[in-house]
Amino acid sequence: MLWPKQTQLFPPKSPLVLSKEKFIQTLEEINNINDLLLLKNRVGTLKAGIENHKNTESSIFAAKSSQDQISLYKDVLIVELDQILNSQTIERARYYIKRLKNSIQKVKTSKINDINILRWKEYNDITTDSLWILDKRDTSGAHLGWYWGNFVPQIPHQMMLRYTKQNDWVLDPFLGSGTTLIECRRLGRNGIGIELNSNVAQKAKEAIEKESNKDSVITDVITGDSKTINLEKILKQNNINKFQLIIMHPPYSDIIKFSNDANDLSNTNSTEHFLEMFGQVVDNISPYLEKDRYLVLVIGDKYSKGEWIPLGFYSMQEVIKRNFLLKSIVVKNFEETRGKRNQKSLWRYRALVGGFYVFKHEYIMIFKKE
Ligand SMILES: C[S@@+](CC[C@H](N)C(=O)[O-])C[C@H]1O[C@@H](n2cnc3c(N)ncnc32)[C@H](O)[C@@H]1O
Repeated sequence: MLWPKQTQLFPPKSPLVLSKEKFIQTLEEINNINDLLLLKNRVGTLKAGIENHKNTESSIFAAKSSQDQISLYKDVLIVELDQILNSQTIERARYYIKRLKNSIQKVKTSKINDINILRWKEYNDITTDSLWILDKRDTSGAHLGWYWGNFVPQIPHQMMLRYTKQNDWVLDPFLGSGTTLIECRRLGRNGIGIELNSNVAQKAKEAIEKESNKDSVITDVITGDSKTINLEKILKQNNINKFQLIIMHPPYSDIIKFSNDANDLSNTNSTEHFLEMFGQVVDNISPYLEKDRYLVLVIGDKYSKGEWIPLGFYSMQEVIKRNFLLKSIVVKNFEETRGKRNQKSLWRYRALVGGFYVFKHEYIMIFKKE
């Protein structure tokens, strides 16, 4: 199973601290060797030194100062060196040396995240697969999982790493227990959460406050209706023009009834009614998302009167209709709700008799604002 811990898709790699200056110097010396065999010999020595964590030849481990220090992942570095060792021509070997040098000297990020693409191999905590099998939720820190109908913190965590930069602004119009804002604090993103139910909003606020805020970001909880709330005013109050990411986790129609409030999306009398209200939320919030930025929708389907209702795909259409480009659909395994967990065999029996499959997945749909 993936993700034993929140940010780990794979076992952690061991960081290696090197002297940037000496390492670059070593690579330049290697680059100047004109004979492929001799060049590879030198790379082989360097690789052995890195593997055994000693390099007497150029003492690349002896950084002069903290500015001279560079942290690299050993496993990734070995792969890079192996690529040089496997080169068939000197030109190819030099190409890999240059690439390695660049990745140490330069930083290249995009407009939407802080991923240094020159060192992309190091980001093995960020998933790019469309199938997520999580064996457990992250319950560390302020993530107490007290709210029935919350999502796993790994969802906003991954989305923020892919689609935001440090200090960007994130909007969650269905805040619930505050999972998104707790992650905002962890990752140094500002966040605004809107929640219809004032009791839930208050509890969320208290939970979020428990999470340390090392980057002093703003994480505000507002009680309100996301169909009509005045976002322009909220943006003005915070001196910003737009949000850089919206994460929406609406009720899955009436599967869990969150309240009796007529404005609650879980309090709708039909799928059409749910979609109408959902569309009103998208209409109200999407003007405040920066162009070319992302909107994430987390939703599942429902089963009613012997029929599978593809709520996820219906909701997806509502977003696409509003000038968004669908970038991805991630299928994530579904944590059984407490109620269903106790009735596992009953659901299996019902499925066998009723000719259907028991829900085991939900969707994370990713859209880009055009
Ligand atoms: C699926 S839950 C979100 C859970 C959240 N992601 C978490 O991790 O706790 C949906 C939330 O939307 C809220 N809600 C429903 N209708 C709303 C509306 N019109 N405006 C704002 N919030 C609403 C519900 O009260 C509920 O807390």
